[in-house]
Amino acid sequence: MNYSDVFGAWEAHPEQFWLDAAGDIAWFEAPKTAYEAGKGWFPDGKVNACYAALDTHVEAGHGGQVAICYDSPVTGTKRQVTYDELLKEVSAFASGLRHLGVGQGGRVLIYMPMIPEAVVAMLATARLGAVHSVVFGGFAARELAKRIDDFAPDVIVTATCGIEPGRKIPYMPLVNEALAMSVHPPHHVVIKQRPEQQVEFEEGRDVDFDGILEAGGTEPCCPCASTDPLYVLYTSGTTGTPKGVVRDIGSYLVALKWSMTNIYSAQPGEAYWAASDIGWVVGHSYIVYGPLVNRNSTVLYEGKPVGTPDAGAMWRIISEYNVSVAFTAPTAIRAIKREDPQATHVSKYDLGCLRFLFLAGERADPDTVEWARTSLGVPVIDHWWQTELGWPALSAFPGLGDTLVHIGAAGRPVPGFAFDILDEDGHPVPRGQNGAIVIKCPLPPGAMTGLWNAPGRFEDQYLSTYAGYYLTGDAGYMDEDGFVFVMGRTDDVMNVAGHRLSTGSIEEVIAAHPAVAECAVVGAADELKGQVPVAFVVLKAGATEATIANLEQDLIASVRHEVGAVASFRRVYQTAVLPKTRSGKILRKTIRSLIDGQPFDTPATIDNVDAIEAVRVAISDHT
Ligand code: COA
Ligand code: AMP
Repeated sequence: MNYSDVFGAWEAHPEQFWLDAAGDIAWFEAPKTAYEAGKGWFPDGKVNACYAALDTHVEAGHGGQVAICYDSPVTGTKRQVTYDELLKEVSAFASGLRHLGVGQGGRVLIYMPMIPEAVVAMLATARLGAVHSVVFGGFAARELAKRIDDFAPDVIVTATCGIEPGRKIPYMPLVNEALAMSVHPPHHVVIKQRPEQQVEFEEGRDVDFDGILEAGGTEPCCPCASTDPLYVLYTSGTTGTPKGVVRDIGSYLVALKWSMTNIYSAQPGEAYWAASDIGWVVGHSYIVYGPLVNRNSTVLYEGKPVGTPDAGAMWRIISEYNVSVAFTAPTAIRAIKREDPQATHVSKYDLGCLRFLFLAGERADPDTVEWARTSLGVPVIDHWWQTELGWPALSAFPGLGDTLVHIGAAGRPVPGFAFDILDEDGHPVPRGQNGAIVIKCPLPPGAMTGLWNAPGRFEDQYLSTYAGYYLTGDAGYMDEDGFVFVMGRTDDVMNVAGHRLSTGSIEEVIAAHPAVAECAVVGAADELKGQVPVAFVVLKAGATEATIANLEQDLIASVRHEVGAVASFRRVYQTAVLPKTRSGKILRKTIRSLIDGQPFDTPATIDNVDAIEAVRVAISDHT
């Protein structure tokens, strides 16, 4: 069946379509009902994510296959973990967690670098029927503390350090600072002692990760309701308070399995590589659960696309592990292209194994896509999704033999996602015209089921703007052939090197500076990272010369310390006033246009004309 046939089959009988797809994963009790309003997908199914990802493959005789190819140029380490070995470690770790009080429905927060132990912790939590929340290792203490307080974990699992090129990032000072700030510190912290950094344990609180594995306990898979939560993944919204996206178990596994086959065309037994981080949704879906459920060998890469050691790192990995399908962010390709414009590194490796390169996480500019396509000689496929959706909603479909792309478009709707483009009044716009990108409800399997700890907020934020639709927060248009072009966010969410960050969390830190009266952070266009945050600050009357002189450095240091280096925050503009709406809302879109040198409609009020001039002067005065 081709794409149109499959999409048509879903449109005609959506429930039967997903019940059929559900047949491709290992259930304890297969669902008979596809969907029930108020309950969700597969309400009568019984499942365990760890069972579907590990045990079932081992039981079928594939225990000797490599499950994880861990490759860490930053530590000079490589390790291949088979399905047998991974299952043994996961079972032992689950047993250890249970002894620390984690049971079905319990909560485990995982703050770890890209090491196999992070995957072990995730799967062990799933094995117990507990819920994990992985926090990206690049977030600093304050962001970690916000997530600890919202999630209220029973246990935190961490490691002694992360490793960035040329520097070690000790985690324990960050964890301890976050715990000191948080209202809900857990009783236990399980710590993986990395050879690069050893720490003293805090008596009574800390538990040795390796000690748990050495104890060699075993733990069966807990049969869970398909609709039970598998994880909470915090993502950035408009404010500084992160939103805990909740994902269920069964429907997520069904969606991932469907996508591994029909979108990515990854065959069981092959190596698949998503060059992301387990702290992001791509890591959850396509480093851990998707490839393991599909019985692929997943690559876990602790390194960068450039500098570890060179711009050939991605090609080395693909060649060394025989990767058939790879996935990365456009930023990574831009970084490689900048260092190696002639793609000289590509010719050093045999890339005959690679069939497709997928890109997502931010807009893929046509130059970058074209450079990758000609350099690698394989189809390069942009596809679009969000933390909330859990898996791609726009794509091409190599698994259905369809690699058709339209340059600049993020693809055609994946079965399950009925897209519309609406004007401000909620009316569909003609093809080719810009508007808000929305998806008809109900969302398909795999999409968020709610926001953690915030009843009603999912409906408020995503479902209330246009009745019957999920609001993506992105704007764009659909062409005559049904390809959707995603042009950018309609809110204040930034995308920095494929990392989703909120302007609000940086503003919170800046506003806390004693000399700052008010501030606005916007994402400015950046050639490499897509966007980087910049701040406009209005000083309090009476700010001293010395404070003003050091302001930029101080604020950069504070954001680095409190949000994390990953924010890539490096620029502060001092302005006398900020442009605002009549109701006092800062005109961030206007400021963004000013900094990017883009045209905009000048808001009517005289004050704003002055304020816009003040911002313009601040930009041109900055050295
Ligand atoms: N832990 C601690 N610090 C981290 C971190 C982590 N997990 N990840 C990044 N950082 C730090 C970096 O060390 C860097 O610090 P610095 O300011 O001292 O140099 C800062 O955060 C910014 O990091 P990064 O965004 O990686 O930028 P970079 O300039 O070091 O590298 C790229 C540029 C393009 C190579 C890099 O951004 C990249 O690989 N991007 C692809 C991202 C991606 O795959 N996203 C997937 C989402 S789907
Ligand atoms: P995240 O939740 O971190 O995956 O970020 C989701 C957001 O990233 C989307 O709402 C888009 O704004 C942006 N995004 C992701 N993929 C693409 C893409 N292929 N093209 C354009 N924007 C994208």
